[in-house]
Amino acid sequence: MNETIKLLTSHRSIRKYREKAIEEEKVSLIIEAAQSASTSSFIQAYTILRIEDREKRNKIAELAGNQIYIQECPLFLVFCADLNRHKMACEMHGTEMAEGYTESFITATVDAALAAQNAMIAAESVGLGGVYIGGIRNNPEEICRLLNIPVNVYPVFGMCLGYPDDNPDKKLRLPADIVFKKDEYATEGDLERLGKYDAELKDYYLDRTKGMRADTWTDMMARHMSTVQRPHMKGFLEKHGFKMK
Ligand SMILES: Cc1cc2nc3c(=O)[nH]c(=O)nc-3n(C[C@H](O)[C@H](O)[C@H](O)COP(=O)(O)O)c2cc1C
Repeated sequence: MNETIKLLTSHRSIRKYREKAIEEEKVSLIIEAAQSASTSSFIQAYTILRIEDREKRNKIAELAGNQIYIQECPLFLVFCADLNRHKMACEMHGTEMAEGYTESFITATVDAALAAQNAMIAAESVGLGGVYIGGIRNNPEEICRLLNIPVNVYPVFGMCLGYPDDNPDKKLRLPADIVFKKDEYATEGDLERLGKYDAELKDYYLDRTKGMRADTWTDMMARHMSTVQRPHMKGFLEKHGFKMK
């Protein structure tokens, strides 16, 4: 196993940080790594906001469901899917942007996510740890007002980064043969594989929590996926220019 694979396979979300500030050189490297990610048709359709203002941090933490680590982390970033400068490019060249298409929404969102994951890996490679914050989509309109995010741009998720003050166990992933298939999509044997994974994960949680937690993955997913998640997103995205045409 080489160092890169070791780093990738030892990922875990970090939600507690030492008070130590992140050196600016490291911040620059993280952003350079983010910008080096692959990007659909070279559109580079994202903007990364670094939030330092204390009041804004406090407000975002509250809007994201009282996630205190947003206040505490040394570096908090918001990754936005951004088609604003593409509109500028069209105007510069006397054309009109074909706005509101689902495909543009997908490419901008994927671009933001690829940049973010590069940022996370780069941060981990220099001794930092972090966690994504999808909670900023709990109240996306207020987040946009607070951060001056215009039409054709939307906040996909935040990211807390800092020097770890916690060493959580690595979370056991699904068996590879459920997510990695040959030649065609197939589900034969997956029920048994899920059962086996459930049993392993249950043991893992029981062990980790000294018997306090006995969740299985299918149980957690059955609860999660039968609850409507952020139904406001469709209306919010439409208002923000992502009309899903
Ligand atoms: C897009 C995205 C949004 C997430 N949002 C949150 C969040 O709002 N709060 C949080 O504590 N963790 C959040 N997470 C972290 C996940 O819960 C975590 O990655 C997952 O449980 C697997 O754990 P691990 O990262 O430690 O392996 C998010 C992860 C992703 C990829």
